[in-house]
Amino acid sequence: MSNYTPTHADTFLQLSLLLQHARHDWQHTPFSCTQLPWPELAKPLQALDEDELDTLDADDDAAFAWLSQYRPELLSSQQLTLPELARAPNYATPRWSSGIGGRKWAQIKDFAANIHAINHKFEGVTLTQPILEWCAGKGHLGRLLAQQGAPKVTSLEWAPDLCTQGEALANQLQLPHEFVCANALSPQAAALFKPQQIAVALHACGELHLRFLEHAAAAGTQQLAVSPCCYHLIADEHYQPLSQAGQQHDLQLDRHSLRLPLQQQITGGERVRRLRHIELTWRLAFDELQQTLTADSSYLPLPSFPKRLLSGDFSDFVLWACEKKSLTPPHIIDSEHWLALAASRRLLVKRIEFVRHRYRYLLELWLLLDKALFLEEQGYQVQLGLFTDLQHTPRRYLLQATLP
Ligand SMILES: C[S@@+](CC[C@H](N)C(=O)[O-])C[C@H]1O[C@@H](n2cnc3c(N)ncnc32)[C@H](O)[C@@H]1O
Repeated sequence: MSNYTPTHADTFLQLSLLLQHARHDWQHTPFSCTQLPWPELAKPLQALDEDELDTLDADDDAAFAWLSQYRPELLSSQQLTLPELARAPNYATPRWSSGIGGRKWAQIKDFAANIHAINHKFEGVTLTQPILEWCAGKGHLGRLLAQQGAPKVTSLEWAPDLCTQGEALANQLQLPHEFVCANALSPQAAALFKPQQIAVALHACGELHLRFLEHAAAAGTQQLAVSPCCYHLIADEHYQPLSQAGQQHDLQLDRHSLRLPLQQQITGGERVRRLRHIELTWRLAFDELQQTLTADSSYLPLPSFPKRLLSGDFSDFVLWACEKKSLTPPHIIDSEHWLALAASRRLLVKRIEFVRHRYRYLLELWLLLDKALFLEEQGYQVQLGLFTDLQHTPRRYLLQATLP
């Protein structure tokens, strides 16, 4: 048996070819489709009723096996798994951690455990360098690292109230932890990166984690740890790959495709499932109504909205949506009629989403590997893996990079 371990570059190439080839599976915008885009999948997909489809969609392994019957090329991607990284020895909550939710606390503890793990490995000692915490919120991670012996922590955050609260918590504990209240996209923030430093970013959104990587590499920051999230929140219309390999195999990901990895949810229980069902139905029912109102059969997306809107009547939702889209609502809203139209379209959307969902992980892995390869090109040794358990967050990928 061969001991060959694929490099990040090998995996990226394999993944790029697979995703390029399967583009027709993951790139569709289901709300704009009027029929299933894959005639060869129509019969087996239509054989699943809504409950069966929901159940299968929620079981990633079973769903992947189902689709692989019709897409055997997907099977080769099953070995593209990432290693489990270090975990905190426990999630016991000290008094100062009150106010941090249980799952957030576990994420922070596990993230910090990996900073310690990598420093033991490379230096035999732990946390001798100052920390820069990027897009810190109240600086919970920075505060934990300061508690765990970091000589100095600087947390960058742009929301003044979060900075004030974070500063107060650090002062109470008399920690060497300060805040810089500034926009991460400003030159002031770029200037915070230094060579002798550990720069960390827990759940930094699209543009913010891209800037983090670029600034750190430009400054020659010794060590980085970043767990990306919200890949679609970028300045450009399309994702601009950072690595040379990414530029060669550019998938031209638009924001719609960049949202796909975020569609992985931790099952939120019956109430959350019910609300998701109502939201999808109401969005589609409103779309049917607006197409009639405007005599235009294109899909009109609505922005996100507070979930409390879903506990009212559909007719109130229509009034809200019409206002958002500057449309004059009809005098009489025949809710039953529009909701019935939505029901059949909902099944179509779910069937298309079901196929797209099977590419969530592969697209996220492609985005992560592009960043890993960029850092390798800049001379870093890079480790990519899972820093916490799925029950704590689906955004659990950690890129750690060290200059040798
Ligand atoms: C998803 S939260 C993560 C917070 C923290 N790292 C955590 O995991 O709890 C992202 C944080 O980035 C901050 N943020 C968003 N845009 C920013 C910007 N342009 N400059 C600085 N901070 C920003 C937000 O206010 C928020 O606190």
